[in-house]
Amino acid sequence: PDHYEEDVSSILIPHGVIMDRIKKLARMIVDDSPGPLVVCCVLKGGHQYFADLVDEIKKLRRINGTSVQLSLEFIRVKSYMNDTSSGGVKISLTDAELQEFKGKNLLIVEDIIDTGATMVKLLDRLALVEPKSVRVTSLLIKKTPRSNGYIPDYVGFAIPDAFVVGYALDYNEYFRDLDHICVISVSCI
Ligand code: PRP
Ligand code: MN
Ligand code: MG
Repeated sequence: PDHYEEDVSSILIPHGVIMDRIKKLARMIVDDSPGPLVVCCVLKGGHQYFADLVDEIKKLRRINGTSVQLSLEFIRVKSYMNDTSSGGVKISLTDAELQEFKGKNLLIVEDIIDTGATMVKLLDRLALVEPKSVRVTSLLIKKTPRSNGYIPDYVGFAIPDAFVVGYALDYNEYFRDLDHICVISVSCI
């Protein structure tokens, strides 16, 4: 699409509201932290939330000295291919990479839980190497009858059953560069 503004029908969550919520999530996550955290970004959709969440955790450290050591990891997971249908969850993680998580306190950072299939598959895979603990944060969870019932530990917003883009969420790789979370126009799909 050449004209992004014409392809999104409405702003669902403005950027400022997202940032305010992330500040609160960062505080909750730090307060609960059992020790040093391995923060795992689920690419590609999770990258913006991951970046802003890590920033907010760093700010907390400067403000009140709350110190949680972070190491940063990136996992490529792809489920949705050419359109809005899932072609099976593909996790790009070698056995050597997986071993890095053994005995660590993991925080998985995801943009959205839709059906929940991606996260359940990823958690199954991670469980094989026995991390010390695994917690999950997702900026969004979709209220949909297609859900498998999975609910993450820290949720930013529960959203209606609509196709959303922006803030790193895509439709066919478009719209990741929008600041706000928007509902896509039916005319675009
Ligand atoms: C999207 C989204 C989540 C997943 C959620 O990823 O970023 O990872 O789908 O869907 P589910 O709960 O129904 O499994 P996608 O496969 O589109 O890859 P991307 O992050 O690279 O866009
Ligand atoms: Mn994703
Ligand atoms: Mg996608």
